[in-house]
Amino acid sequence: MIRVRNLSKTFVTQKRYPGFLGSLKGLVTREKVRTVAVDDVSFDIDAGEIVGYIGANGAGKSTTIKMMTGILTPSSGRVTVDGVVPWERRMANAANIGVVFGQRTQLWWDLPVTESLTLLRDVYGVPKGEYEKRIAFLDEVLGLSEFSGSPVRTLSLGQRMRADLAASLLHRPKVLYLDEPTIGLDLIVKEKVRKAIKELNREFGTTIILTTHDLADIEELCRRIIVIDSGRLVYDGSLDELRAKYGRARTVRFHLAPGAELDLAPLSAEIAALDPSSRTVMEDGELAVTFDRAKAGVGAVVQKVLARHEVLDYAISETKIEEIVKRIYLEAEAGR
Ligand SMILES: Nc1ncnc2c1ncn2[C@@H]1O[C@H](COP(=O)(O)OP(=O)(O)O)[C@@H](O)[C@H]1O
Ligand SMILES: [Mg+2]
Repeated sequence: MIRVRNLSKTFVTQKRYPGFLGSLKGLVTREKVRTVAVDDVSFDIDAGEIVGYIGANGAGKSTTIKMMTGILTPSSGRVTVDGVVPWERRMANAANIGVVFGQRTQLWWDLPVTESLTLLRDVYGVPKGEYEKRIAFLDEVLGLSEFSGSPVRTLSLGQRMRADLAASLLHRPKVLYLDEPTIGLDLIVKEKVRKAIKELNREFGTTIILTTHDLADIEELCRRIIVIDSGRLVYDGSLDELRAKYGRARTVRFHLAPGAELDLAPLSAEIAALDPSSRTVMEDGELAVTFDRAKAGVGAVVQKVLARHEVLDYAISETKIEEIVKRIYLEAEAGR
């Protein structure tokens, strides 16, 4: 359904200097700054897949989505979505896709949700009877009637997201792009939005690409993830494979006795001597050490910590997916 080949995007912007004199300097020197936002990315997505496109802030997720949706033209590389090059045939592409950006609405700010939806019905030329049927489904999945009479500007973030989802789905697109669909939502609404996404995919086989930095979205929705870091693809595969590959990773959390300060750097160095890919950090008031148990034994790690600090309690856990992704970033950086 989607083919992405050697896709790159470089932004060229004017270098900025701080202050008024700085802005004059910027005018005079006209120095340019080049940002490589997406760097030689390739992947294929089959019809009906839900793929998580993940990466840290500024990794290049939105830029990729903007090229796949035809909003931006790439610096080089190629994309086809259902055979259409998005930025060359915008109208043909628009008929195939739905897009939701979590950070801003595509609806008319002052209009009640129902009016926005009927406007879109006319834009897409959805017949009346068919429209009623689709709205009934969307209402069932997204609970639209709760707020459909209210102007968009008065909606809560969660309601707005549900309205935006409905709007992007009215024309039954084959492909749905969701850029941070759960950002800023509370847990209950997140859950609702995730359920709706799953339901859509099951009911209509909609191909879904979602960017997120909430890994709970991924665990609940995606079998496959693509990870990018500084514009480069660093992982493309199933979540299960990722777990298997990093399944040897363990995290030990230490509840330290209050009082004496812990000197993290020497401890971290000692554990790194056992396993160079280990991570030793303070997290939520606890000391967390993540390491490959094939390289460093749990016992050896515990000993290193006990030698330096009094410990009230500790617990060993499988590594969370969040930690695994951090390790992928670190490995990618080490390889550069
Ligand atoms: N219009 C733009 N002009 C210049 N730089 C941009 C523009 N859009 C994004 N960038 C830069 O490209 C990089 C990737 O941004 P983005 O794709 O928004 O990342 P993400 O969505 O993963 O947070 C960042 O360094 C960002 O500052
Ligand atoms: Mg983004």
